[in-house]
Amino acid sequence: MNATLRPATAADAQRVASLLIDTRSAFMPYAPSAHPDEELREWVAGQLLPSGGVIVAEIKGAVVAAMHTEQAEGISWFTQMAVDPALVGKGIGSLLLAHALRTLPLPLRLYTFQANAGARRFYERHGFCAIKFTDGQANEERCPDVLYELHAPRTEA
Ligand SMILES: CC(C)(COP(=O)(O)OP(=O)(O)OC[C@H]1O[C@@H](n2cnc3c(N)ncnc32)[C@H](O)[C@@H]1OP(=O)(O)O)[C@@H](O)C(=O)NCCC(=O)NCCS
Repeated sequence: MNATLRPATAADAQRVASLLIDTRSAFMPYAPSAHPDEELREWVAGQLLPSGGVIVAEIKGAVVAAMHTEQAEGISWFTQMAVDPALVGKGIGSLLLAHALRTLPLPLRLYTFQANAGARRFYERHGFCAIKFTDGQANEERCPDVLYELHAPRTEA
């Protein structure tokens, strides 16, 4: 899949928000967002994009995926990762992950829901290890999650 990557701009806000909303309803119906769609759209436009760290993948000029990363106290974090539900399993997530690994210091961490089998398979395949399982009481959805960490990239993935 011939996708190219670029930093997101303010003009991407609606599309990035739609990706977050659509992947949530397609793949995580057990953990509906704690926020109405309109609130999420405002958050993406007003906070997520201005904070920097959002990279989008484009195919023929259309945004098909988005990733947000940040660094805190010596640790890099994936906070958002969403591929258009119609295009999952085609290598776009791997492309975004490879970009993160080229540009961020390790370790790289993320939380995902324990029930998100597809994402867990994806991250484990790329060498992430589960380092903590929670009962979900600390997240907005109150849904059990798992903390993954990558210390060194798995070169064959
Ligand atoms: C998880 C996600 C980012 C992976 O990106 P992707 O472009 O689909 O992944 P790639 O094509 O690069 O890699 C394929 C691998 O992704 C995993 N995967 C996850 N969901 C999948 C799906 N619905 N279909 C196929 N593969 C899927 C598998 O491990 C697959 O490899 P395998 O079938 O050989 O095990 C993407 O599927 C996605 O956005 N899912 C919904 C939102 C989400 O769960 N985000 C992560 C929250 S932390």
